[in-house]
Amino acid sequence: MSQNVNRRDFISASAIATLGASALGLGAEPRRPVGNHRPVVISSANGLRTVERAMELLKAGADPLDAAIEGVAIVEADPSDRTVGYGGIPNEEGVVELDAAVMHGPTHGGGSVASLHNIMHPAAVARLVMKRTDHCLLVGEGALKFARAHGFPEINLLTDEARKIWLHWKETNGKESDWIAPPDNELDPLVREFFKREHGTIHCSALDTHGNLGCVTTTSGLYFKIPGRVGDSPILGAGLYLDNAAGSAGSTGRGEANLLNCSSFAMVDVLRRGLSPQEAVLEAAKRVAATNKSPRLRDAKGRPNFDVKFYCVSKDGRFAGASLWAGAKMAVHDGEGARLVDCTPLYPEPLVS
Ligand code: GLY
Repeated sequence: MSQNVNRRDFISASAIATLGASALGLGAEPRRPVGNHRPVVISSANGLRTVERAMELLKAGADPLDAAIEGVAIVEADPSDRTVGYGGIPNEEGVVELDAAVMHGPTHGGGSVASLHNIMHPAAVARLVMKRTDHCLLVGEGALKFARAHGFPEINLLTDEARKIWLHWKETNGKESDWIAPPDNELDPLVREFFKREHGTIHCSALDTHGNLGCVTTTSGLYFKIPGRVGDSPILGAGLYLDNAAGSAGSTGRGEANLLNCSSFAMVDVLRRGLSPQEAVLEAAKRVAATNKSPRLRDAKGRPNFDVKFYCVSKDGRFAGASLWAGAKMAVHDGEGARLVDCTPLYPEPLVS
């Protein structure tokens, strides 16, 4: 059994939020006077509280990246979101491994961490990779040592609920034949319910009152992944990208599809050509569908048998979301309150899994 599972509860749950929050401000910019540009924040559907908090910070003069990081930190610390940070679903060995990346428009800086263990706020660590190293990406033990050096507290990210879900997966889908699942009527309802849900991750792009951009993507990645598997979230150009002169973009869903298409870079490139966010997100969705050649990943009509969602905001404050399959939403705050809006689907029907 993994070290993470053995060390469960080495810190009390009530202390976790406080400790995580204490490190959250590391590397943040001082506030500056508010400008005249209309601020906009976009996020994935799990980011309603994220856009609310980020908008509040933008209106108080926060840097757009700092606002986005603090917005997603709410979800990173939320044990009920099983796709991000604390409470995320672990890898196949029961260890929660986090990926996150940030980009900062005014400096065109970027930083990321991958396969990071025991740190509640990987996006804040990614900001320090950007600001306090000569590099863009730190992984695994090196990323953890870097976070420790900057005073991030270590906690056990595996909640009891996530552990039960992992255990059920191990007893039903894992490689070890010695593991035996309980009868269905003895299964914890939260475990049964979980396996009906789709994947998550959170992206947030923020446009501040000076017309500057910042973005972040943070995730616990693919459920029950092979240890060391890294998705698109910490890869600049795949899970997020920005150009302060054009706009910002990010994605959630099957990361391998974005790695193979540099989806976020491609969306921003569409904006650079003078096209709209709506054209950018649909172009990314079409690319993923067109390049998905593996028979294992196609339905009977040759369409992807997975979903990917794309989010984009332009320098002038227009925004759009798209998904491969119908039913996806994104969170937005453009001064008129935080709300969920529909993503435009490439295919008119929902994904049948
Ligand atoms: N898009 C998140 C992941 O694939 O890890």
